[in-house]
Amino acid sequence: MKKIVIYLTLIISALGLISWGRTGHSTIGLIAERHLTPEAKAAVNVLLNGQSLADIASWADDNRDRATAPWHFINVPLGLSFDDFKSQIENAAPNVYTALLGQETILADTGKSNAERATALKYIVHFAGDIHQPMHVSRAEDKGGNTIQLRYDGQGTNLHSLWDTKMLEHAGLNAQQLADQFDQATPAQIAKWQNDPQITWAWESYQISTQLYAEIDTLQNKTIDDTYYQKHLPIIENRIEKAGVRLAGILNALFAKSTVQASTAAVPTAETETVTTIPLSEAANHIDQTFKTCGKVYGHKDFGSMVLVNIGAAYPNQLLTVVLRGDARKLQDDLDDQDICVTGKLILYKGKPEIVVNDSAQISK
Ligand code: ADE
Ligand code: ZN
Ligand code: ZN
Repeated sequence: MKKIVIYLTLIISALGLISWGRTGHSTIGLIAERHLTPEAKAAVNVLLNGQSLADIASWADDNRDRATAPWHFINVPLGLSFDDFKSQIENAAPNVYTALLGQETILADTGKSNAERATALKYIVHFAGDIHQPMHVSRAEDKGGNTIQLRYDGQGTNLHSLWDTKMLEHAGLNAQQLADQFDQATPAQIAKWQNDPQITWAWESYQISTQLYAEIDTLQNKTIDDTYYQKHLPIIENRIEKAGVRLAGILNALFAKSTVQASTAAVPTAETETVTTIPLSEAANHIDQTFKTCGKVYGHKDFGSMVLVNIGAAYPNQLLTVVLRGDARKLQDDLDDQDICVTGKLILYKGKPEIVVNDSAQISK
């Protein structure tokens, strides 16, 4: 059994199922946040219950399944004219382009619930990234470069993984540092990029991947050297910056038209409304539900913009993580070792249950 799990893990990682990787997707989220209008920022904050675009940027990879796996890329033959490329991907089976447009329609629909619109937003943030990764608009026969073996930094890798993560992570910078470095566009560039339709985003990736395939054929010993890295890093920077700026453009346009109902009444607090109390041991079974649960605090960690509080056991065995945001962060020093109750909506973050607290009234002792 253990062996099977190891093989499955190897196969899954060999197929490069993680797109830009966490760092790349977070960087795109951070860049987008800097270009949001106040209206879009407020709508995002309500839908994501206080989480940031960077926080949720890899949610779609963490929740990939057989049905949604094809939504992360598009495979097409090389050599198509723009018109043929456009008609092929519009009419192909579900893919990153059609999934992106489909989720935009859901997010724009004020008749949908906030939960449905939040899921659509998480997909859009992720797919805006994937569609800008050149190797996600690529050939079927080599699985988007996954089966093209290469050597880089003294290790075996493949063309897909090189572009998802390996080159981006080479410098060892975190998402915040990359966002600071990449977010350099002039107002004129921003206006132009945000005016390009999504088919252009995909077409640009296709033209780049066409060039990448050709270059690999001429490579000595299938080894990626520093010359290759230096030549291609600006392309990665440009793709990630464009993805962030264009993502903001989509969200700004969308939330200028279809508003999201304000959050003030969204989280009932213990004082204002009766909410069900759920035992802490069962909290994790109530995903996306709003309720009250109580338990002992086993310490906290301050991350600046948020404070994580461990309930029920110490990290990493906590039964629930309470995420203090905004003003609620000031509670952090009064909670350790105390029995507290928290009221809010339970969500899963990286598979672990958490409740985001924006308002001190959500916590009682
Ligand atoms: N990721 C996983 N499979 C892929 C494929 N066939 N093309 C591009 N990206 C992928
Ligand atoms: Zn990928
Ligand atoms: Zn993806």
